[in-house]
Amino acid sequence: MEKAFSSFLLIVLLLLLYVMASSPMTKTNITTDQLALLYLKSQIISDPSHFLDESVSPAISVCHSVGVTCGSRHQRVKSLNLSNIALIGRIPRKFGNLSFLVSLDLGINNFHGNLPQEMTRLRWLKFLDLSVNNFRGKVPSWFGFLHHLQVLNLVNNSFTGSIPYSFFNMSTLETLNLNFNSIDGKIPKVIGSLINLRELRLRANQLTGSIPFTIFNISMIEVLAFTGNSLSGSLPNGLFNGLPILKGLYLSSNKLHGHMPTSLSNCSQLQVLSLSENEFDGPIHSEIGRLSNLQILYLGTNHFTGIIPQEIGNLVNLVELAMEDNKITGSVPISIFNISSLQVLSAW
Ligand SMILES: *[C@@H]1O[C@H](CO)[C@@H](O)[C@H](O)[C@H]1NC(C)=O
Ligand SMILES: *[C@@H]1O[C@H](CO)[C@@H](O)[C@H](O)[C@H]1NC(C)=O
Ligand SMILES: *[C@@H]1O[C@H](CO)[C@@H](O)[C@H](O)[C@H]1NC(C)=O
Ligand SMILES: *[C@@H]1O[C@H](CO)[C@@H](O)[C@H](O)[C@H]1NC(C)=O
Ligand SMILES: *[C@@H]1O[C@H](CO)[C@@H](O)[C@H](O)[C@H]1NC(C)=O
Ligand SMILES: *[C@@H]1O[C@H](CO)[C@@H](O)[C@H](O)[C@H]1NC(C)=O
Ligand SMILES: *[C@@H]1O[C@H](CO)[C@@H](O)[C@H](O)[C@H]1NC(C)=O
Ligand SMILES: *[C@@H]1O[C@H](CO)[C@@H](O)[C@H](O)[C@H]1NC(C)=O
Repeated sequence: MEKAFSSFLLIVLLLLLYVMASSPMTKTNITTDQLALLYLKSQIISDPSHFLDESVSPAISVCHSVGVTCGSRHQRVKSLNLSNIALIGRIPRKFGNLSFLVSLDLGINNFHGNLPQEMTRLRWLKFLDLSVNNFRGKVPSWFGFLHHLQVLNLVNNSFTGSIPYSFFNMSTLETLNLNFNSIDGKIPKVIGSLINLRELRLRANQLTGSIPFTIFNISMIEVLAFTGNSLSGSLPNGLFNGLPILKGLYLSSNKLHGHMPTSLSNCSQLQVLSLSENEFDGPIHSEIGRLSNLQILYLGTNHFTGIIPQEIGNLVNLVELAMEDNKITGSVPISIFNISSLQVLSAW
């Protein structure tokens, strides 16, 4: 009886060990974090300011490393900031072991290669900045599993492929910046499910198709930047009525056509309106004069017709006004000379 019990205990113990060994996520501790950083250091082929040389070593507690912050409760690495120190190298798979990471800033370095899929285990990440590096490969769909992500900044890398569907699982996302990559395909309609989105920046990629109207239902949106793609289609009149706090609309250098939507004049907080280098036509409405916060108005290189409305003089904060290369007739209304902030004017 006693023997049976002790062999039962042994089996339980073995099972327990097996479970612990096969679920690496549950047994990570600060030593795991230290190893992950030492691994990162081993993948760095150039560290001109000797940043990692000095701050990451087996002799230094990782929580005392420069650029590292540990959580006060778990004493695990909570944030890592290695931005702008000219590092060249790759991100190792072990990086996914930093399982308590909330903020990761590797911006403005020369990291290259693909992002390891193991990073999907950084499930507490809220802030991820990988901008101005040389990461390549398809935009990883596993970003969609980072359910706490609020800021994703991939600006100026070499990411390809289309915007993964899974992105729209990141309902906490507030800033999505994919400017200056080589992303193609259409902007998926499901983007409308990112109800907390404030900034959507997709500038200088190779996106095609029309702008999904679902975007215009995201009432928190402040910046929509799509300049320098091949987006087509027109913008229906009422489209902008759901965007009360829109501050920047950047649509230049695409293939958009149709009239300027009148509802734009309801976006009273708009500061930048950039529609140049498209195929827009029709008149410039007098309602544009209601955009009293406007600082930049680019309408050049389109097919706009008619006269420049007198109400343009109401844009008392305007700094730059460009309307050249259209089919506009008549002269510049003298009300324009009432705008004391105006520095650049190109009308023809
Ligand atoms: C972390 O866990 C390992 C076993 O997985 C153990 O050897 C090590 O002592 C632990 N480190 C700390 C700081 O608790
Ligand atoms: C990282 O450090 C740089 C330079 O000190 C700073 O500008 C940047 O805001 C920091 N990033 C984060 C996420 O705090
Ligand atoms: C660390 O990451 C590696 C590679 O992803 C993995 O094999 C290992 O089990 C992880 N270790 C811990 C303690 O989580
Ligand atoms: C991208 O970053 C590089 C530096 O790494 C810089 O020279 C280049 O101007 C940047 N490109 C854009 C479009 O911002
Ligand atoms: C979205 O998240 C759910 C819940 O975590 C997950 O089951 C599903 O696979 C995710 N969908 C995509 C497309 O990533
Ligand atoms: C926008 O939201 C309204 C109300 O919730 C809904 O009726 C409409 O279908 C939505 N439009 C788009 C394009 O998603
Ligand atoms: C501006 O908003 C008001 C109130 O929501 C609405 O009645 C009006 O039609 C809108 N104007 C345009 C030009 O869409
Ligand atoms: C310029 O502004 C003044 C004062 O606000 C106003 O009286 C005048 O009518 C304006 N002139 C034009 C041409 O709009």
